[in-house]
Amino acid sequence: MPLLINPDEDLYRLGNPDMDSTHAEFITLVNSLSQVTGDDFCKGFDELVAHTQGHFDREKDMMTASDFPALNEHVGEHNRVLADLLQLQRRVQRGNLMMAKAFVKEQIPGWFHLHATTMDSALANHIKGR
Ligand SMILES: [Fe+2]
Ligand SMILES: [Fe+2]
Repeated sequence: MPLLINPDEDLYRLGNPDMDSTHAEFITLVNSLSQVTGDDFCKGFDELVAHTQGHFDREKDMMTASDFPALNEHVGEHNRVLADLLQLQRRVQRGNLMMAKAFVKEQIPGWFHLHATTMDSALANHIKGR
């Protein structure tokens, strides 16, 4: 089965070492989730949610520290995705994996592509330009 997210995609290298390593970890977690089911999926999904919380918290800290002008828009987008993930995590905990699996396969790759190449790219460029 092909990987959901191409880890070698140059567009995902934003030139901010902290963001780039976090995104590489995110890509690995998403790709490995697509290969597993049952308890392994539940564990992996919990890991993805926890990792995403840390990922978004660190980006918010960078936005605050660098006076990023689009902080509200970017954080709002993070919160929207995190709310979806937390809702799906509750379903997974009740034994319903179907929607979480569909979200990982059908929503996350496209969301990550758009988010990394727009909002995250803007943040990395803003920090570089300071
Ligand atoms: Fe990010
Ligand atoms: Fe972001």
